[in-house]
Amino acid sequence: MKEKIFIFDTTLRDGEQVPGCKLNAKEKLDVAIKLEALGVDIIEAGFPASSPGDFESVKLLSQHIKSTTICALSRAHEDDILQASNAIKNAVKGRIHTGIGTSNIHIKHKFNSNQKDILERAIKMVAFARNLAPEVEFYAEDAGRTDNDFLARVVESVIKAGATIINIPDTTGYCLPTEYFDKIKYLKNHVPNINKAILSCHCHNDLGLAVANSIYGAMAGARQIECTINGIGERAGNTSLEEVVMILKQHDDLNLYTSINTPLLTQMSRYVEDTMRMPVQANKAIVGANAFSHSSGIHQDGFLKKNETYEIIKPEEVGADGSKILLTARSGRSALAFRLHKLGFNFTRDDIDLIYPKFLIFADSVKEVFDHHLNDLATTCLNTMLPVCEAKTN
Ligand code: KIV
Ligand code: ZN
Repeated sequence: MKEKIFIFDTTLRDGEQVPGCKLNAKEKLDVAIKLEALGVDIIEAGFPASSPGDFESVKLLSQHIKSTTICALSRAHEDDILQASNAIKNAVKGRIHTGIGTSNIHIKHKFNSNQKDILERAIKMVAFARNLAPEVEFYAEDAGRTDNDFLARVVESVIKAGATIINIPDTTGYCLPTEYFDKIKYLKNHVPNINKAILSCHCHNDLGLAVANSIYGAMAGARQIECTINGIGERAGNTSLEEVVMILKQHDDLNLYTSINTPLLTQMSRYVEDTMRMPVQANKAIVGANAFSHSSGIHQDGFLKKNETYEIIKPEEVGADGSKILLTARSGRSALAFRLHKLGFNFTRDDIDLIYPKFLIFADSVKEVFDHHLNDLATTCLNTMLPVCEAKTN
């Protein structure tokens, strides 16, 4: 029996913190409506205590979003928690996400404190939040660099205080996948009341490992993944939603599933790219412009014989336009014939052998060969190489 991974989208909180990505309340609501349609389970709508504008955004989303949980971030401060609870008070399903740094470096340098006081504050603030919200998630900031024994004590205590979701953030993107797996397993094995809570992965991408760490966290027993559309977020970003969702979908052997409506992924990505003005790199997995493009001769030949030789996902599964055969000086005869055929030129194999060297000379002089180039090339060949070249246009 497959188990569900809850998708906690933090595009509107961790993603929106990125300079240039800030949204007003109306823009946030438009993104949230699309996230709800996409099927995310929880939307982290913002950090109400951070500014009056963000308070209003969280409040607006709480009024309009009906089927998805609306979550508000807060530090472990009474005032932050009060503001978070006020902002989500109209939500059909509301959650407060509060927490504190638990690594030695955070305890010493951020809080000038010690483990005992941090533990007490965590317990007190979770209990305080639990009286004000239907659901409390606790984050142990910098859990990735937190000693596992202390982390286990914190987790056990905040569950006793009323938290039902425990976030284990790799805040600095430091962990290796195996380390993060071991951390989640350690908590599963050493926290006596762990079955009263869901463990959550919140991984940053400083070493390019956010997605891998989240998947390893889920393999170790975490059942919520915190992620953003296009992987946007602080510094190098967060776990990319589209990547974790498609990894879980592709790997049946993991026995995990999400409720994400995957054919909406590409349009969601484009919408966030435009609204938050954060361009997606062309080679980005799943949603990048080249994710379904084939340009080298060897790949194109295989792909044209059978798509699955070079594609593990069908473009329509993620709402992409379709696979593309691009032409460059690295492309082969099969791709050239395919593209010419698409333009209506029915050349024989022998014709293509004659045209191909001319194509390569031209292709070496440009980055990519487009349809208008091909039209010119084919027309020139038809005029100069006839009657050798037997092709006719359709
Ligand atoms: O990266 C992090 O630790 C966070 C917390 C506030 C959850 O974003
Ligand atoms: Zn974060």
